[in-house]
Amino acid sequence: MITMIREGNAMAANGRKSIFITGAASGIGLACAKRFAAAGWFIGLSDIDRTGLTAALQAIGPDNGSVHVLDVRDREGWANALGDFGRETGGKADVILNNAGVARFGVLEDLSDADCDIQVDVNIKGVINGARAGLPLLKAAGGRLINVASCAGLYGSPKLAVYSATKFAVRGLSEALDVEYAQHGVSVACVMPWFVATPILNAGASGSNEQMADALRAGGLEVYPVEDAAQVVWDAAHGKALHYFVGKRAKQMRFATSHMAGSVRKRLRSQPLLSS
Ligand code: NAI
Repeated sequence: MITMIREGNAMAANGRKSIFITGAASGIGLACAKRFAAAGWFIGLSDIDRTGLTAALQAIGPDNGSVHVLDVRDREGWANALGDFGRETGGKADVILNNAGVARFGVLEDLSDADCDIQVDVNIKGVINGARAGLPLLKAAGGRLINVASCAGLYGSPKLAVYSATKFAVRGLSEALDVEYAQHGVSVACVMPWFVATPILNAGASGSNEQMADALRAGGLEVYPVEDAAQVVWDAAHGKALHYFVGKRAKQMRFATSHMAGSVRKRLRSQPLLSS
């Protein structure tokens, strides 16, 4: 069967609410695309994975979205993708979901330079690019910028040191932009998931065979279904709060890092993976 991929089809959103999602070919981004499309929204599906995007469009229904092959590190790519998306939606976006992210699991000395660089480039610079490029469409809608950080942005996470640093950055960026963008009628939310069952858990580091999923299993840590994350993003799109948490363990972690940072640190030393 041939799937028609629409890129820049004038006003295809036809008055529907719209969301532009990065990393929409897999995991949390794909689950969000399905959640919002099922509720009648028009979805801009973007990712570096063209094949995955085609499948994603098929999954949400070809009339419910458009696909945009976009590497979030590429500023010109952002301008082109949002230009095409804006033509579909009448120049607005109710939500931009900065979701694309990568992880490399392992102690810092096992990471290659490329492992370090890609996390900073995608997780921080990619989100900054989206926040800047997306502002005109968000302004036009009085919309909401939603950035996906992580519980690793609550407390420095061993074996995820660079990843964790990038997620602190996303949290800081979100908090600052919520103030800056208020003058434009645009609000910001930062979503912090605990571990969620997606392919990112297969992450390792170039210098190690260990995968995050193995460490999670060994530690008996909870992993939440991807639909839980999509529901929290839905809540974030419709709420006014700045911080949103995916999973009970995420809320416990938030409490523990706010009120018992010393004991969190002690537990991490005995179990070197996030624990609350
Ligand atoms: P995933 O690996 O299933 O999906 C990530 C998507 O991002 C993939 O489709 C990938 O092709 C895309 N991507 C990677 N590099 C890209 C680039 N340069 N430009 C555009 N797209 C790119 O992972 P998942 O779990 O769905 O991750 C989504 C977000 O959730 C990430 O920001 C991640 O850090 C965050 N997160 C995930 C958690 C989890 O346990 N799954 C926990 C906390 C946060």
